[in-house]
Amino acid sequence: MKLLTGNSNKTLSKDIAKYLKSKLVNSSIRKFADGEIYIEINENIRGNSIFIIQSVSSPANDNLMELLLCIDALKRSSAKNITAVIPYFGYARQDRKVVPRTSISAKLVSNLITKAGADRIVTVDLHAGQIQGFFDIPVDNLFATPIFARHIRKKIKTKNIICVAPDVGGTERARALGKILNVGLAIVDKRRPKPGHSQVMNVIGDVKNQTCIIVDDIIDSGGTIVNAASALKKRGAKDVFVYITHGVLSGEAVKKIKNSVIKNLVITDTIDNWAKTKNVKNIEILQISSLMAEAIKRISNSTSVSDLFK
Ligand code: R5P
Repeated sequence: MKLLTGNSNKTLSKDIAKYLKSKLVNSSIRKFADGEIYIEINENIRGNSIFIIQSVSSPANDNLMELLLCIDALKRSSAKNITAVIPYFGYARQDRKVVPRTSISAKLVSNLITKAGADRIVTVDLHAGQIQGFFDIPVDNLFATPIFARHIRKKIKTKNIICVAPDVGGTERARALGKILNVGLAIVDKRRPKPGHSQVMNVIGDVKNQTCIIVDDIIDSGGTIVNAASALKKRGAKDVFVYITHGVLSGEAVKKIKNSVIKNLVITDTIDNWAKTKNVKNIEILQISSLMAEAIKRISNSTSVSDLFK
C-alpha cells in the first residue's frame, strides 16, 4: 500500500502518512506556461494499491483536474488498484435539477473520477448521501460527527444544549449529533433567493436560554451560519457554537465569523485552512487525519470501516 498526495492539502496527507508510518510516493506536479497540469510519478508503483489524497477545494477546477490526472498516471503506471481519498468532495451541491436546464455536477464529477480509473472512493461527510449511488464502485463515506461529539462533551459543560440544523436539508445531520449527545433538535427555516444569499424565515423549536450547537457539512460564504446564529440569539439563545466538517470559507467568510455572535466555530482539516484562520479567536480546527488513516488501514487490510463509528 502506498500514499500519493495532490497539492490541495499536503499537510493532511503528511499527517495521514505519519499515522500509517508510511511515506508519500515521490511525484512531481507541475504546470505548463498556459496552466495545463503535468503529473509525473518518480518511483515504481507497479502492482501496488495506491491511495491518492486530494480534496476538490478551491481552486476546485485545478484540484479536480489534478486528481483526475493523478489517477490516470497511476493507472498507466500499472498500480494494482487506485483509491481516490477525497476529504472534501467538491461539486457536490448540485446533486439534482432543482430548476430546469441546470447541470448535475455531482454526477458528472463522479463519472469523471470513475472513468479516469479509480476503483474506490473514500470521502468525509458527502453533501448528500445519495451521491454514493452516482458511482458504480465502492464509496466509503466517513463521518465527522463522533469527533464533534467528543469535542462538545469536553468543551461545553452546560446541561441546556440543543442541536440546530441551519436549514431543512441539514436535519438528519443535526438529529444524528443530537442523538449521540442525547439532546433535542431545532431547525432553521432558511430560504435561498439566489446562490450565495440566504435568508432566515423562522426557527422551528424553542431555543430560549439554550446553548445552541449548529451543525452542517459546509461553510462557504458564511451567510447561512451567521444568519442562523443571529436568528437564534434574537430568539433568546444563550450561546451559539458551530460545528462544520468542511471549511470552504470563501470571500469574506472568516471576517464574517470573526464579527458574528458565534462563540466558537469548529471545522475539520479536510480543507487546508491553517493559514487563513491563524489568530482568529473564534475559529478552531479539529484534525481528521487519524480517522482517515484508520479507514485507509482498514480498507487495505479488508476489515470493517463502519466499525469505526460504533
Ligand atoms: C447547503 O445545503 C450546505 O449544507 C451549506 O449550508 C451551504 O453550502 C453553506 O453556504 P454559505 O456558507 O455560502 O451560506
